[in-house]
Amino acid sequence: MPEMTGNMPAPPCALALQRFVGQCVRTEMPKTFFITTAIYYTNSSPHVGHAYEMVLADVIARYHRLKGENVFFLTGVDQHGQKVQQSAAKAGVPPVEFVKEITQKWVDLGKKLDVRYNEWAETTRERHKKVVRGILQRLFDEGQIYKDKQSGYYSVRQEQFLTDKERGADGQFGPEWGEIEFREEENYYFKLSQHKDWLLRYLDNRTDAVIPDFRQTELRNAVERISGDLCISRPKSRLDWGIELPFDKDFVTYVWFDALTNYISFAGYDPTVGEADSFSYNAQSLEFRDKWPALQIIGKDILVPAHGIYWLIMLHAIGFPDDKMPQLLVHGWWNIGGAKMSKSVGNIVDPFVLADKYSVEALRYYLMSDIAIGQDADFSEERLVERYNTNLANSLGNLLNRTLTMAEKYRAGLLRTDAEYKRHLDMFMSFEQLPADSKGLLKRSEYLPLLDHAASVINGLHGFTQEMNDFAIDSALDVSTQSAARCNILIERTSPWQLAKQKESNRQLDAVLYHLAESLRIIAILISPVLPRGAHGIFDQLNWKMELSGKEERFSLADAEWGRLPDGHGVGKPVPLFPRIEILEGV
Ligand code: MSP
Repeated sequence: MPEMTGNMPAPPCALALQRFVGQCVRTEMPKTFFITTAIYYTNSSPHVGHAYEMVLADVIARYHRLKGENVFFLTGVDQHGQKVQQSAAKAGVPPVEFVKEITQKWVDLGKKLDVRYNEWAETTRERHKKVVRGILQRLFDEGQIYKDKQSGYYSVRQEQFLTDKERGADGQFGPEWGEIEFREEENYYFKLSQHKDWLLRYLDNRTDAVIPDFRQTELRNAVERISGDLCISRPKSRLDWGIELPFDKDFVTYVWFDALTNYISFAGYDPTVGEADSFSYNAQSLEFRDKWPALQIIGKDILVPAHGIYWLIMLHAIGFPDDKMPQLLVHGWWNIGGAKMSKSVGNIVDPFVLADKYSVEALRYYLMSDIAIGQDADFSEERLVERYNTNLANSLGNLLNRTLTMAEKYRAGLLRTDAEYKRHLDMFMSFEQLPADSKGLLKRSEYLPLLDHAASVINGLHGFTQEMNDFAIDSALDVSTQSAARCNILIERTSPWQLAKQKESNRQLDAVLYHLAESLRIIAILISPVLPRGAHGIFDQLNWKMELSGKEERFSLADAEWGRLPDGHGVGKPVPLFPRIEILEGV
């Protein structure tokens, strides 16, 4: 939808109309689901921890598309700042060139990992800089930004002045602050502490502002300790790789107002609309308000203070109401042998290398299945291979292969499902509501084990949505793993090769084959957010929805209803889907 307001403030009647239309549209159109990742520093190449965050957001975005929602997924890169300027200097190239080269690596990572975002944020873009400058100017005009002199200890790594509160019990600044130096400097400050009480109230009123719970507690405790304001500038004499302050050309804005603002600048936020002396959220374009607020995926290291304190307070200061605050989903870290991945330690795991060696799907599957949301995990290549081979190659891939091989061999690829079977299925599905006498009829059914099995797949579906809604991707994947395992057990129990030998068991054989194919169709839908290629592979081989082959729209949660494959459907021939990873000696 086109924005109704450009750079010029809209006249009051246009705003009123826009609000009115906004209200009408809101009742008719479901809101867009907006999801973001952190933006990645362009001072060095991506590692597997970054890949995890991107894939996690991609999986949640795909799940919402699966539910039929309109999704806006924003990710990108954080291109300004001291670290970038220093890395560029080290490499002997101007920051602009340095950033271009590293940015390409992040773009390539998204492509490599099948991360399907809708908008790519680059903080050197004019569109973004305009929003940053607009916000700073208005806060300055409102007296929320002021100039002051500061001297004290400065953390080069965290890019901030430190106070005594940051000292540990031994009186020293801990290793998390990195190199510390003494500095004296004039700078601009944002009146952060005047919003402290608001933030405490907000966190008390909204219990799911941060997920998981323990991170919200951690944040609340940190907010209690806020004292002093936030330094938001650096003199150009020391750093010029940043966005110039609109009210003082000798300074650039530093980190927070530049990086955090990306979440709204790339979603269509316009700081110039609204009344002159306040920021009116409702004056924003429909395009923006349809998306906002976002679910923001961040790592545990950037909750406090960046997102949990600075970002929420910034939004509040520019007039975002409490019910328009973003929700922060805080994930843990992938470590190596319990230690942080870092260039200096030399234990960085390269996601490009892993994807080339084991396949993108193996990497996505591992990153989503071997870590619980909010917790840390240890990265292990052995576990990647083991999980892939056990759950995908041996279980799901093998199930697909066996099912299609048997369908081809015994039924020339044709699935049959008769009215009798459907009647029993319907009865079974509403078993609890049946009168006692018909329950007896059902128990005598020759289909009972199959019906029971169908019910477990359907129950699994409920479990899947619950887990996904709780961001428990690992548990949601378990649902499909268990379904595939049950299907394999069903094959052993019903021995279709024996049924094929007897004419009188034709109906049972048809029912078993139908059951397996139908389970695979549903499993494909459930794994599609994590394993889009695998899901397409299953649908292709089932010869299902071929007109949408390769397109994400092929999968929908509404289609995960038992019994969609019609009587007489012809499945395709088996092609190995998740080939086993063989580890050669010494590799
Ligand atoms: N540019 C800032 C964020 C600004 S957001 C407005 C930044 N960039 S980063 O590249 O250092 O980190 C980006 C994200 O990657 C963060 O959410 C961080 O937690 C995450 N990870 C960095 N190392 C990680 C692991 N080892 N494991 C999982 N996630 C990790 O911070």
